[in-house]
Amino acid sequence: MNGATTTAATAVEHKASSTGLEGVNVADTLISEVDGANGRLIIAGYTAETLATTLSFEQLAHLLWTGEEANAQPKSALISRFGLARVAAFARLEACRSILNKNDAMDSLRSFISLIDLKAADDLKSFTHMASAMAVFVGNWTNLVHERPLVAPDASLEQSADILRMLHGETPSAALSQALNTYLVTVSDHGMNASTFTARVVASTDSDNVSCITAAIGALKGPLHGGAPGPVLRMLKSIGSAQNARPWLEKELSEGRRIMGMGHRVYRVRDPRAAIFEQAVRRLAQEGLEERLALASAVEREAETILRERYPERNLKANVEFFTSVLLDSLDVPEELFTPMFAVGRVAGWCAHVLEQRGLRKLIRPASRYVGVMRDQ
Ligand code: COA
Repeated sequence: MNGATTTAATAVEHKASSTGLEGVNVADTLISEVDGANGRLIIAGYTAETLATTLSFEQLAHLLWTGEEANAQPKSALISRFGLARVAAFARLEACRSILNKNDAMDSLRSFISLIDLKAADDLKSFTHMASAMAVFVGNWTNLVHERPLVAPDASLEQSADILRMLHGETPSAALSQALNTYLVTVSDHGMNASTFTARVVASTDSDNVSCITAAIGALKGPLHGGAPGPVLRMLKSIGSAQNARPWLEKELSEGRRIMGMGHRVYRVRDPRAAIFEQAVRRLAQEGLEERLALASAVEREAETILRERYPERNLKANVEFFTSVLLDSLDVPEELFTPMFAVGRVAGWCAHVLEQRGLRKLIRPASRYVGVMRDQ
């Protein structure tokens, strides 16, 4: 009994001292900067707002992986490099149908990437192959699940356009592919988030690129990181109307659940990516758009108010996942592909961090403090 009390007391003290490394600087980086107080995101020297409308995913990935200016290479050469890598990755996709878990796209993505053998490839080639393999996977997930013939990639298209083409069986309009491109470049990197840190820990052991990226996929999958947009969409659908927002959210909190798409470890203002996605949705000018955005905004406002009442010091606002759900839903991306699509964009940042970390030649190995009892008398 005494022992149980001691353990419970220790657990409380333990929780109080567990900071989740909040505010700890684990790297000086050239890749991105998240200014949580001012709601500013810089990736490779550009603001997220600039990137969202100027660079293709291929150009941004090249910039992150080589440091070369976006226009140093002809855009067509980059499109073709990624396109040919999609064609190569597609050949592997058919072969691994049987090992995929049809109930879980993220598990399957992790398995698919882990089977890639890139030991002989240089970094640029292996990064391009993994990023392209993810695009082919997402574009064909629905076909894999329903055991339909797979749709081959078109190497002449940009990654964003080809993903939508494989997914929906027709070449998308420029507006749709631009919206997906905006999504992919905007989520490409974001400071020392959990999956990026995971990739860097694995890279610091001098492990291979595929191991770094599969580990990062595992971290991204969790609902506190990249797994939130699906639940956000379900929440919006379940709330259904602005007047239902407050009772629905209050019930959710009273039952001990978190409101998905709200709160952030670093931002104390609204996540700047939320506004970028909101604008991208608006540019699509689809039927029913105003109603969808009005509902999302009403839920966001109500959630902010309720969370402010509960946690006045914390400033819990909408994060990237809130409007991700609205944007990807507007592109007819199935909900189970929201998190894999996040990986398709974030892989650009993961790979850049793997290179940067490996270059430091320093094992990441933090300390811990034993707070258990001494049993050996
Ligand atoms: N809904 C309800 N309560 C929330 C909340 C949310 N979305 N976000 C934070 N809180 C609560 C926490 O439970 C905590 O309360 P407690 O002290 O009683 O346990 C308090 O607010 C402070 O939390 P905070 O320190 O700001 O959270 P964190 O930095 O550890 O975690 C997140 C950040 C993103 C994991 C967290 O805000 C969250 O779970 N959000 C929902 C999931 C989500 O949208 N994830 C995508 C992130 S991009």
